[in-house]
Amino acid sequence: MLDNKKINIAIDGYSGCGKSTTAKAVASKMGYTYIDTGAMYRAVTLYFQQKNVNISNLEEVETALRQIEIRFKFDTVDQKLHTILNGIDVENLIRTPEVAAMVSPVAALSAVRKELVAQQRIMGMDKGVVMDGRDIGTVVFPDAECKFFLVADIDIRTERRIKELALMGIDTSFEDVKSNLLVRDNIDSHREDSPLRKAEDAIEIDTSYISIQEQIEQVMEVVREVIAR
Ligand code: C5P
Repeated sequence: MLDNKKINIAIDGYSGCGKSTTAKAVASKMGYTYIDTGAMYRAVTLYFQQKNVNISNLEEVETALRQIEIRFKFDTVDQKLHTILNGIDVENLIRTPEVAAMVSPVAALSAVRKELVAQQRIMGMDKGVVMDGRDIGTVVFPDAECKFFLVADIDIRTERRIKELALMGIDTSFEDVKSNLLVRDNIDSHREDSPLRKAEDAIEIDTSYISIQEQIEQVMEVVREVIAR
């Protein structure tokens, strides 16, 4: 019977806490769909940058949003889920420091959040989704059966992000990456519309000194328990 009960799993928290690695592994173990909502905000940001959209002009923002179609596609070469923006694979382009520098101001816009949250709700409508982001347990799926909130020490998060960027051939400095993470944390936590915060019923996991395997196991333990209920 366990296999028949599908749930939604929300994984929120700060950048560089291992949300996506954990979410991907949990989705794979459960046979669920993994959805990286940060990639959606990054794709919108990339589009705005490419089209020089003035984010202070609501009309320009709304017109641009109508021209954006975001999909995810499994790439058989690197065995990873890629973000597709209007038919083009932008997986690497959305991870650059240029996009990282603008994504939080873009994600603070209510027009952007309204559109992406609506799409995310459709994706999770039939359950069986592991979604990572900032507002999944609080706004997108307040009824998600399992909610997690990941935190970690800022220097450890910085090191992790530097390694990810290095794997993509992007050379950065510790100070630049750390400052981007802190600026984003600040904007994400203080914006008016759906600020980053732990849902009351979310389980907090500090990933600073535990391995990826341990993070995954801690999440899986809760998931198994909830499904068995
Ligand atoms: O998860 P990632 O670091 O790729 O997210 C990039 C940015 O997208 C975050 O810093 C935040 O500004 C925004 N975001 C958001 N809500 C989400 C997911 C991401 O505001 N659910």
